[in-house]
Amino acid sequence: MATKITPFAISALLVVLSGSASAAPEGIASVYEDSFLVGTAIKSSDLTGNLPAKNSLPCSEFNALTAENAMKWQHIQPAPGQFNFAMADQLIALAQQCDARVIGHTLLWHQQTPGWVFEDEQGNPVSREVLLARLREHIHTLVGRYKGKVYGWDVVNEALNEDGSLRDTPWRRILGDDFYVHAFRFAKEADPKAQLYYNDFNMYKPAKVAGAVKLVKQLGDAGIKVDAVGMQAHYSLFYPSLSDIEQSMKTLRNAGVRIAITELDISVLPLPDDAFSGADITQSFAAHPVYDPYVEGLPATQQHQLAELYQQLFALFLKYADSVDRVTFWGTTDADSWRNNWPIRGRTDHPLLFDRNGRPKAAYEAITRHID
Ligand code: XIL
Repeated sequence: MATKITPFAISALLVVLSGSASAAPEGIASVYEDSFLVGTAIKSSDLTGNLPAKNSLPCSEFNALTAENAMKWQHIQPAPGQFNFAMADQLIALAQQCDARVIGHTLLWHQQTPGWVFEDEQGNPVSREVLLARLREHIHTLVGRYKGKVYGWDVVNEALNEDGSLRDTPWRRILGDDFYVHAFRFAKEADPKAQLYYNDFNMYKPAKVAGAVKLVKQLGDAGIKVDAVGMQAHYSLFYPSLSDIEQSMKTLRNAGVRIAITELDISVLPLPDDAFSGADITQSFAAHPVYDPYVEGLPATQQHQLAELYQQLFALFLKYADSVDRVTFWGTTDADSWRNNWPIRGRTDHPLLFDRNGRPKAAYEAITRHID
């Protein structure tokens, strides 16, 4: 005789399968909720069509969402005055559904910004006045639209050289050395309550972090509070050292600057000896099998190394929890990570907490199991 399956039996079965009906909130964000936000980057394909569901990893694991590309200038204003808000609107909707904060990325950057921004119709550099007006319009339109909905903005991205001096970019060449002050001023005007961040890579380098502290002080002198400095944290199993990272965190804390870890990932793949360690997105090397050894999966030894490094990093973030506001991963699963294509295209990297099938890796277990 067949057993009758009642709705009650089905819901009881679901409770058994999911652990318990009244389980404590799950996910890495809940593990760290007393210390800092834990975020992820949302890829553009998740913002077109159906949004990730409430029980999807980005939603259930994280409480801060950054658009990996959707809010960058080239996507949101590809042509003069032509704003494409569809994906950014979806990011806001996703964050509401997931009860997560939205981090806006990014307002002024020398990358992923269309050439027209800096040029007139003949292709000559525009005047300071014209560029300032374009920057103002861009920031007021974008920040104004999401006023009260975006928790904080990466206002300026990667303005510094490795020695802490200002990078030579069209922004600086045309606007002058205080180009970044204007960006912060416009963002503050457009949403006085939003947090405002300066964000850069290789912040573990003493000279670079000193440059960031100087920038924050100069903004302070101009009457603008920088709410946190973002350390991108595109790391690898081979660099940087934990002590260098800690030294930088100490420098920021001693200067009274709050910290956000904004783009964390840890590549496990070897690189050519001459590779530069930063996150310059234009850097590119030729592919070779020797630089792509884990196509079939990450061997146990490296899996363990990665877990250990993540565990040490999170121990460090907790040690500085009084200064750390947020730790955001640059993506959720290894399949989505930009590290598969940078700085060598088409590799199989394993830098994040979830594998290509969305299963938690040893690294996930290591940083959620035990945190005191
Ligand atoms: C990367 C994205 O992940 C890629 O999809 C895109 O092709 C290039 O940019 N520093 C940043 C991020 O601030 O915006 C970059 O994101 C990675 C380096």
